[in-house]
Order: sequence, then C-alpha cells, then structure tokens
Amino acid sequence: MLGIESSCDETGLALCTPDGQLLAHALHSQIDVHALYGGVVPEIASRDHVRRLVPLLRQVLEEAGVAPEQLGGVGYTAGPGLAGALLTGATFGRSYAASLGIPALDVHHMEGHLLSPLLEPDPPDFPFVCLLVSGGHTQLVEVEALGTYNMLGGSIDDAAGEAFDKTAKMLGLSYPGGAALARLALEGDPEAISLPRPLLDRPGLDFSFSGLKTAAITRWRELEGAQREDLAASFQAAVVDVLVARACRALDVTGLSRLVVAGGVSANLRLRTQLETEVTSRRARVWYPRLEFCTDNGAMIALVAALRLSAGERTDLSISVRPRWPVSDLQPPSRKTRNPLMQNHAP
Ligand code: KG4
Ligand code: ZN
Repeated sequence: MLGIESSCDETGLALCTPDGQLLAHALHSQIDVHALYGGVVPEIASRDHVRRLVPLLRQVLEEAGVAPEQLGGVGYTAGPGLAGALLTGATFGRSYAASLGIPALDVHHMEGHLLSPLLEPDPPDFPFVCLLVSGGHTQLVEVEALGTYNMLGGSIDDAAGEAFDKTAKMLGLSYPGGAALARLALEGDPEAISLPRPLLDRPGLDFSFSGLKTAAITRWRELEGAQREDLAASFQAAVVDVLVARACRALDVTGLSRLVVAGGVSANLRLRTQLETEVTSRRARVWYPRLEFCTDNGAMIALVAALRLSAGERTDLSISVRPRWPVSDLQPPSRKTRNPLMQNHAP
C-alpha cells in the first residue's frame, strides 16, 4: 500500500504491507523555503509538492524493492490542510491508482497522526485516549477502534503548536519555531517568569492558548529583550503543564489506562518527561510515534490507507479535498465506496 502526504509543507511518501508494517518511507521538507517568508506560502507549497512527488515515489519503490504492479492500493491525505497542497497529492495518488487499476482512498491527516504510534514495535491496544497536538489541532480523543473516535475536548482558540510558533516568532526564532523555542528553553529557568495556565481551574477537557500567548507578549515587552531564555522556558512550562493536566484528567474521566500522544508537539521533550512521570504514577502508560513521525510524514498516511483499504473501504474516481474536515466526521471502515462529492463540503 502506498501513502502520500502533501497537506502542508512536507511531501511524504511511504509503503507498507496490507496489515500496516512499514516497508519504506521518504520525506521532503519545505521548511527552508518557507522560513524566508516567516510562514507557509500556500502557492509555493503546492508547486514544490508537484516537483517532489514523482522522485519520492521512485525512491520508496526502489528502497522497498517493490514494482508498481505489486501495489495493492493508494491512500493520500484529502484533508484537513491547504487546498492547493492537498490537491497535488490527491490528484497524483488518485490518478496513479486509476492507472494501475487498484483501489484508492481519501485519508484524514489527523487520523494519520492519531494512529501513528501503531507504526512502532509494541504498539498500544485499543481503547486508548489520544492527545493530538499539532500546528493546527489540540484535541483529546477517546479511541475505541479504527474509526470510532469520541471527541473529549479541544482548543477553543489557538492550537498548542500554533502558540509555540507565534511565541517563537515573537522571540525572533525562525519558522516553524516550536522546536527552536524548545531548544532555547533548555538554557532558561521555567519558573523565572510567571505565566497563566488557562482553563486549568475549570472542569472539562477544553484548552485555550491565546491568553497565554498574549501574556507572553506582554511580558516580552516589559522585559525589553532581556531574559529571552527564561521566557521561552516559562512559556514551554505553562503549555506543558496544561497539556499534562488535561491528558491526565481525560484518563480519569474515561477510566482508560493507555495514553497516546501524537502530532508535532509530541516531539517536545519536556512534555514527554512530565507525562511519563504523571501517567506512570496513575498506573497508566504512554505511547508516542518515533520522533521523525511526530511531525508530518507519509508513513502515517500509508498506515491508515493500509488498515482501511484492507477492510474494503474505497474512494470512487472523483478527486476532491476537504481543507476543513473534523475528526468527529470519521467513521469505522465501510465496504461501501465513498463518494467524497456526496458529502457536504467545500470543493
Ligand atoms: O503535526 P505537525 O507536523 O503539523 C500539523 O499537522 O500541524 O506539527 C507541527 C507543529 C508546529 O507548530 C511545530 O512548531 C510543532 O509542531 N513542534 C514542536 C516541536 N517540534 C515541532 N512544538 C514544541 N516542541 C517541539 N519540540
Ligand atoms: Zn500534521
């Protein structure tokens, strides 16, 4: 099974067996190009995906020693993401499948992140709680089985990764700033500057990060450029405290003892260390994707494609993408052919 990711600024292709064992993967990141502009430029992203798709496909086929005729199906990210970027992978993937006479599938990018720890040895069993923390999403999801997802809570404003990126930009770090801010934080004192832990005093499982970001901006102005490392460390500590407390509350509320953390921010080491302590003290366990699969990649898309195509699900010949596609719309695999055009969504 071939998986194709092109929803934002990374072109990722991967091959796996029908039961989801990874055979090969390749990634091209556009970060250097977009860093010049301080953020992703959608038109540049689309044009770059077009240039990379064929060479990356050749690379994974060669690495796995697989001929195109041996492929059993193709899955590609159909949303959520940038419309133009999604269209490059979806058009390429759908057409390639048609040319080979094999089934194709629209894959939900966040389902890829959500299931990405299943690519690792010793994967978690269902059911589990998933903390999805990426540049565009901060969500807690109760995962009962493939496609059975109960939304427990989410951010009412900025996503955690977005808050990291905006604060990093303020501190003069280049795009995308999350990882750079985490590196700078290593040199600072996380208790030096007091910042709020939004919503933690309230019940429920929702998050809010825009007030924290504003508080950080206010402190930065007051400090007039001093204590940059301390501000990075204190900001990271505030975000991590909130994520850890909410994830633990989700385990308590659901009574589950398995936590999966996925998406770009799951690469954050402070988050991992603090979760490890808190979760194990509850006699629960936490799983992550390997570091390179925390951020966008083709392997997680190939995995979802493999699991769903093997269960008989297919998308018909039409090509359409869903730049906004809520995780809550996902269903267990169905043997019916999905016609994306029949769903109520923007072209
Ligand atoms: O999952 P991802 O690659 O893309 C989306 O689907 O959004 O996540 C990217 C996000 C960015 O906001 C980036 O700054 C953040 O993940 N990120 C991190 C770290 N590495 C990546 N945030 C905090 N600490 C990190 N080490
Ligand atoms: Zn992502």
